[in-house]
Order: sequence, then structure tokens, then C-alpha cells
Amino acid sequence: MKVLKLNGKQNTSQIIIGNGVFKQAAEFLCGIYTDQNSPSAILIITDSNVAGIYLQYLEDNLAELDIPVYHHVIPAGEEYKNLETISSIYDTLADSRFGRDDMIIALGGGVTGDTAGFAAATYMRGARHLMQIPTTLLSQVDSSVGGKTGVDLPQGKNMVGAFRQPDLVLIDPQVLCTLPGDVFRAGLAEVIKYGCIWDPEILDMVSGENITAGLENLIERCVSIKIKIVEEDETEKGLRRILNFGHTIGHGIEKLGDFAEYSHGEAVSIGMVSAIKLGESLGITKKGNYSKLKAILHSCGLPTELTYSVEDIYKAILLDKKKQGDSLNFIFINDIGKALVKKIPVAELLIMMKVLGD
Ligand SMILES: NC(=O)c1ccc[n+]([C@@H]2O[C@H](COP(=O)([O-])OP(=O)(O)OC[C@H]3O[C@@H](n4cnc5c(N)ncnc54)[C@H](O)[C@@H]3O)[C@@H](O)[C@H]2O)c1
Ligand SMILES: [Zn+2]
Repeated sequence: MKVLKLNGKQNTSQIIIGNGVFKQAAEFLCGIYTDQNSPSAILIITDSNVAGIYLQYLEDNLAELDIPVYHHVIPAGEEYKNLETISSIYDTLADSRFGRDDMIIALGGGVTGDTAGFAAATYMRGARHLMQIPTTLLSQVDSSVGGKTGVDLPQGKNMVGAFRQPDLVLIDPQVLCTLPGDVFRAGLAEVIKYGCIWDPEILDMVSGENITAGLENLIERCVSIKIKIVEEDETEKGLRRILNFGHTIGHGIEKLGDFAEYSHGEAVSIGMVSAIKLGESLGITKKGNYSKLKAILHSCGLPTELTYSVEDIYKAILLDKKKQGDSLNFIFINDIGKALVKKIPVAELLIMMKVLGD
């Protein structure tokens, strides 16, 4: 088991990674609160799939705390990461008379974590206690750590959000054993992202024979990178932008598929190879990386081909919030492990992107 810390401007997150830690949720929770600041009620927010597998177990475990534990189940799927779901959570919090000092626990993947985190960041101008228990590979290596929360608007992804570091993140690789294969693979896209932008050895680790055997290490390696990046730039003014590698085109693809055709991880996979192809054509990325990354993503069962027209993707990108005035920040790599952010005038982007249709 590893205990890591992320020092945010407002509060510090304790991140616990280890096989079996989910079963000790109540114990870890007690460990971070004193009598003076402990919550007097808990709301577990989870989705309709995860509820059937892990909710009862968590409720039984938390029963030993001797405080009321409520739950709110949201429908599973990115299409429910929206303001309507947030509104239903506010109703439950208000109807159960939750105060600012009570606790919200997000139990689920990135959709649950982003949604519950945003509710926690905004209910009564910010609930004091938030715990993340991520149950997908993607949420364990990425979304549960770093305090970015938010929901989608019909116009685009994550267009409403807030920064809110959780007090505690409990990462148990064992809960991934119930994940459908495609959801596990989607998480590998974000793992591979860390390899591309920071740590080339991660690509060797995912290309190895048995990923599951080294999963705890792999997750810890990714989370450690995220902590370093977020501690340097918590609110994404500079360095943190590199975590969006593959996401400019990825978000456009997700939107074009109405958030149902491609999962976030699958869209990021296509977005990453596209960013490398663009980079090679512009002389920014060292030649050879495109075919190397494509082969790795293929071996992980991830998609790499664009199925929408370059023009449609361009139009979807223009709606993305990463656009700043007449330009947008596009993340390239010089080589595996070396990311850079380049401001691209929107007027030039479509011309640049033509190469993706070849
Ligand atoms: N906040 C951030 O920094 C950040 C970073 C990366 C991604 N994200 C967001 O994360 C979201 C994607 O997250 P995701 O891929 O985890 O999707 P998800 O939350 O939709 O989970 C995928 C599916 O797996 C199911 N599931 C979850 N855990 C399970 C388990 N242990 N066993 C069986 N089924 C399980 C869910 O019910 C769902 O059907 C996107 O909305 C993306 O924008 C946020
Ligand atoms: Zn992502």
C-alpha cells in the first residue's frame, strides 16, 4: 500500500493506493478527521451499474462510523454527466438536510467522480468533505486525482466545472476485476497518455505480457506524475495543459458521437495518434512516433482511426472550451515523454488538420 499526498492551494488530498483498501474505507476515513471536523452525515453518490456491485458493501463498511449514510444513484453513462443530474443530487442533499460540514463520497468511474465532485464543490458554496473511490482504471489513474470536477453541456464537454481537491482518494486496483474489458481498455488510453507526455517507461509497462500483475505499480506511477503536474499548476494555467494531450481532437470525436459512440478513453486514443500525425507533418514530433504509438494502442485494443470527416471534427473542436479567442492551445510531443503546448490560430487549424484525412 502507498500513501501519497497532493498539496493543493485550499486543501491537501491524501491518496491511498493498494489492493484491498476499499474494504477499509471506514478506517481510512476516521484516520483523516478529528472529533472537531468529522462529518455528521455521508451521501454516497454512485451510478446504476456500480451500485449493484459495490454500494451495499460500502454502506455496510461505513455503518461502523455510527453516522447516517445515505445514497444517491445516478444513471450510468456520459450522457448523464449533466446539469439535470446535478440538480437531482442537490435535491437529495437538501431533502436530507445536508450541511456544509457533511461528506460526499463519489463511488464509481470518472463520470460519477466529476459529477459528485462538482456537486460537492458547489452545494452550499462548497461542501467541506469529499472522498473519491474510483472504480475504473481511467478514474484511478486520472480523474479522481487533481480536483477537476464538472459536467457537460449540450454544446460540449466539461463546460461547467470547478476545482475541488478531495480530502481522500481510495484507489483499490482489485475493484477493477468487475470492469467490462472495453472500459478497462479505455483507461489504458490515459495511462498511455502519461507515457507520451512524461514517462516513456510506462509504454513498455503497458506493452508487456501481463498488465494486471503490475497494475498497482502502474497506477501509482501515473498518479505520482499527476500529483507533480497538479502541484505545479493546480488551475491549469500552464503545465497542467499537457494532460490534455489527445483531448482537443478527442473531445471533438466524443461530441460528434453524442458521447455514446466512443468512450472518453477511446476518443483520446484516436486524439493522441492524430496529434502525433499532425506533429510529424509539422516537423514538431520526431518521425517514427506515429507508427510506434499506433502499434501500442492497437495492441491494447484501442481505436486509432478517424471515422468522422476532418471538417466535422474541426467544427466540434471550435466549441471546446480550450479555445481562447482566435487561437487554441494544442498539445504536441517532441518525442515520447516530452510534451509541449503550442498556441494555434484557429484559422490555421483546419488547413493543418487536412493531413489527418490522408
Ligand atoms: N476530472 C478529470 O480530471 C478527468 C480526467 C479524465 C477523464 N475525466 C472524465 O472521466 C469520464 C470517463 O470516466 P470513465 O471512463 O471512468 O467512465 P464511467 O464513469 O462512465 O465508467 C465507465 C463504465 O464503467 C462502469 N463501471 C465503473 N466502475 C465499474 C466497476 N468497478 N465494475 C463494473 N462496472 C464499472 C460504469 O457504470 C460505466 O458504465 C469522462 O467524463 C471524462 O471527461 C475527467
Ligand atoms: Zn481524459
